[in-house]
Amino acid sequence: MTARMTLRVNGSDHDIAVAPDTLLLDALRYECGLTGAKLGCGTGDCGACTVTVDGEAVNSCLMYVLECEGHSVETVEGVTAGGIGAIVAEEFVKADAVQCGFCSPGIIMSTCALLARTEPGAATDEDIKEALAGNLCRCTGYLPILDAVRRASGAPR
Ligand code: FES
Ligand code: FES
Repeated sequence: MTARMTLRVNGSDHDIAVAPDTLLLDALRYECGLTGAKLGCGTGDCGACTVTVDGEAVNSCLMYVLECEGHSVETVEGVTAGGIGAIVAEEFVKADAVQCGFCSPGIIMSTCALLARTEPGAATDEDIKEALAGNLCRCTGYLPILDAVRRASGAPR
């Protein structure tokens, strides 16, 4: 059984047919063609699938897409197209905070959710660590990521 729904992603409406148990992550990747959010664990532990729904960072592997009708989803493709998300992506590159890159879309999304709710320069290291606590990275040792987020936080918006 499938249902039709409108999924608003990165400011565009997608008319899609989904099963009742279709996950947001699968709808983004296979119905909308947005492959930035990744399937890592599938159990809410790694953060590779992080996107925002109405500005809140969520694990898209744990959310049914039907729960998103009437809400606004953003993915790494949308946020890095301009504004603070583009600055975050640039700082990740400058700080060598990307190695294999599998974790990067999710970490960028958690960072953008943090910076959207804090004034420029106001995010403390504790705020950053808390915001990124659900995002695992197997490559970088986290320090370059912390550095990149600090610098992005201080950038004018
Ligand atoms: S794939 Fe969703 S938290 Fe790991
Ligand atoms: S850069 Fe490889 S997992 Fe983070």
